[in-house]
Amino acid sequence: MSEDTSRWLPLLQQILPAERLRVDVESLDAYAHDETEDLHVRPQVVCVPENTAEVSAILKVAYAHGIPVTPAAARTGLSGGAIPVHGGISLSMERLNRILEIDAANFQAAVEPGVINQVFHEACKEQGLFYPPDPSSWGSSTLGGNVAYNAGGPKAVKYGVTSAYVLNLEVVLPNGEVLWTGANTLKNSTGYNLTQLFVGSEGTLGVITKIVLRLIPYPKVSFTLLAPFASAEAACAAVAKIFQAGVTPSGLEFMERDAIDWTLKYVDGVSIPTGPNIEAHLLMEVDGFDEDAVLKEAETMAVVVEEAGALEVLFAQSAAERDAIWKLRRRVGEAVKSHSIYKEEDTVVPRAKLPELLRAVKRIGAEFGFQSVCYGHAGDGNLHVNIVKGDMSDEDWQGPKLQEGIRTLFREVVAMGGTISGEHGIGLVQKGYLDLAFSAPALDLQRQIKAVVDPTGIMNPGKFFPEA
Ligand code: LAC
Ligand code: ZN
Repeated sequence: MSEDTSRWLPLLQQILPAERLRVDVESLDAYAHDETEDLHVRPQVVCVPENTAEVSAILKVAYAHGIPVTPAAARTGLSGGAIPVHGGISLSMERLNRILEIDAANFQAAVEPGVINQVFHEACKEQGLFYPPDPSSWGSSTLGGNVAYNAGGPKAVKYGVTSAYVLNLEVVLPNGEVLWTGANTLKNSTGYNLTQLFVGSEGTLGVITKIVLRLIPYPKVSFTLLAPFASAEAACAAVAKIFQAGVTPSGLEFMERDAIDWTLKYVDGVSIPTGPNIEAHLLMEVDGFDEDAVLKEAETMAVVVEEAGALEVLFAQSAAERDAIWKLRRRVGEAVKSHSIYKEEDTVVPRAKLPELLRAVKRIGAEFGFQSVCYGHAGDGNLHVNIVKGDMSDEDWQGPKLQEGIRTLFREVVAMGGTISGEHGIGLVQKGYLDLAFSAPALDLQRQIKAVVDPTGIMNPGKFFPEA
């Protein structure tokens, strides 16, 4: 890392006006972190470009001078991807925030990467169009970040994750070259799939400056149900049975008791019944266009979960009740964070293995001395295992035993046919475990791709690869 910015700062000053080239401590602190644990590393400068040409000019300077570039926007990430661990430039994409076009005739839209997910969702909805990926952070996270980490969210279980909606990307390569990765078409068997190479690449290959997204018709009706279980494992076991009964829910979330209790304390104006013997809840939703058909699916789902051990299943009676339940679910992460520092493990296994995964989490926690609160996208087999620091000492929190516990968990997850991140990415905090997810040749192939696209290693250094 070059502490001395005098060589290159004047070059950036020729590209950006002073208010968008920030070196004040407050700005550096604001870009020193995302939502990952309590990690902070300051960049040397925050660049806030407003268009592709500025991004390209900044990268040309960075490329010529070997300056680390860490793309960032809302900084809601949970794997430390936006933390500029090697200093250099934090490249804030928040001002590239225009919805360029919503093309209703073709069911697609073009956006800049700094558009906030929910803002885009609402703009599409006004035209009867649906952009389903809805990570919990959708009120603040940006579409560029969503693409860079292949974000999921509750709707993914029926509609798929971000990658399923990305048709084409404008990308600035580390040397400043600008290119489009594909075409604005629903089908494309032309060449290597460069578009999907950049989806989930975590800012390690280049900078996304425009995104073309696929849209679908906005569903007209939905029903939301909440099912309490005396046994968390029984709740997990119910999940696969719902699909086996022929229902594909548009949301199927699992929340352990502590996750709910802590969130109820943290969020105002939400109450749900939680009896003394409840270990977990499933939050379930179905949606569609034909009210009778969707209601039938909701009823089927209620019967299935009752047969699987659910106690009294609650049907949300109004939009307000439905919104309150989802608000509760979306804020679990924040609530856990306000309770204690935690490490978020984003485990994912084939859906029917979910009960086995939960058992493994608790067994390994007992063996390695950590407490966890679990919640997540049960329908996707995606369990967020929040390892809570609580009164663990700083030494133990950073120490080898906890790391070995996490390794053990990931090893078992992979043995179940799963992998180490479903939707939060590898970034900084999971890179040490990537060898568990890939064979040596598979990891090496990714290293070679990185070396070709970013030969001098300026893009988001210190991330993704175990040795980075
Ligand atoms: C959620 C985020 C943490 O599911 O992925 O709430
Ligand atoms: Zn999630």
